[in-house]
Amino acid sequence: MRHLLSVADLGPDGIEEVLRLTDNFVEVSARAIPRVPALRGKTVVSLFYEDSTRTRLSFETAAKRLNADTMNFSVSSSSVNKGESVRDTVTTIAAMGVDAIVVRHSSAGVPWQVARWTDAAVLNAGDGWHEHPTQALLDCYTIRERRGSLAGLRVAIVGDVKHSRVARSNVLAFSLLGADVTLVAPPTLLPPSLAGWPVAVSHDLDDVLPKADVVYLLRMQRERQTEALLPSLREYTALYGLTRDRAKLLGDDTIVMHPGPMNRGVEIAAEVADLPGAVITRQVANGVAVRMAVLFLILGSGGDLGG
Ligand code: ASP
Ligand code: CP
Repeated sequence: MRHLLSVADLGPDGIEEVLRLTDNFVEVSARAIPRVPALRGKTVVSLFYEDSTRTRLSFETAAKRLNADTMNFSVSSSSVNKGESVRDTVTTIAAMGVDAIVVRHSSAGVPWQVARWTDAAVLNAGDGWHEHPTQALLDCYTIRERRGSLAGLRVAIVGDVKHSRVARSNVLAFSLLGADVTLVAPPTLLPPSLAGWPVAVSHDLDDVLPKADVVYLLRMQRERQTEALLPSLREYTALYGLTRDRAKLLGDDTIVMHPGPMNRGVEIAAEVADLPGAVITRQVANGVAVRMAVLFLILGSGGDLGG
């Protein structure tokens, strides 16, 4: 694997390979000194044009646990503020000698452009509304950890699908691994066309919840909404929020997931996010191991973890 730009590049076999390898890095992460020298001498740079807590920190942690050097680029303190283009920024960073660039940008497609401008490996950490492949991988891993397999599981993805790169990557990954995906959202928060999406659609959360093995809530991405798509947030929560009352409809084994950051009280009630069925912090923990696996697959040589 040269880059990780899209879930589609991986296919079911590629996803399985990452998940299998992740088991090793979960084990490494549990050690007293959670480090292996697998990527000694490699340099990984984070090029984030959009805010992030989880993805950025977990890629950095993953690189460090593999003994790679890390470079951190922050738009707010960079020469982007002097008008430097993305292309010139990438060329400048690449000239310092980097092996991998982890990129997040508000425009769809930027990671593909970056891959054309540099010889370094490129990892998509979220491009616009388009894709967030490592989120999908860590979500698949987390579901597998709880349920053994995704095959035949009924997964409901609830909320602002329209603006969600997580939804696009997850629909693809979940269905490639054999899950049945239902999108649950008001019509205004669904993409204008779902042609080619391997999903069912419902506008009735109360009907979907009792049958779901996994309920995956999406953040209301207000920073991406350019028009009024909802009468009010309160009305949204009443119809599509996982409220405390609605959580009573969930089966005993149902897993509740959220990519973070959460708007507690909007798409998920504050206390529901902390119920035993909620695996939201587990998703974050697995994110480090999954990103170790991805970095190792792309930059490692010959499958040796180095101890
Ligand atoms: N953190 C995820 C993303 O960057 C989900 C979200 O922001 O709602 O796409
Ligand atoms: N889930 C996710 O991508 O979180 P961040 O935006 O905090 O990286």
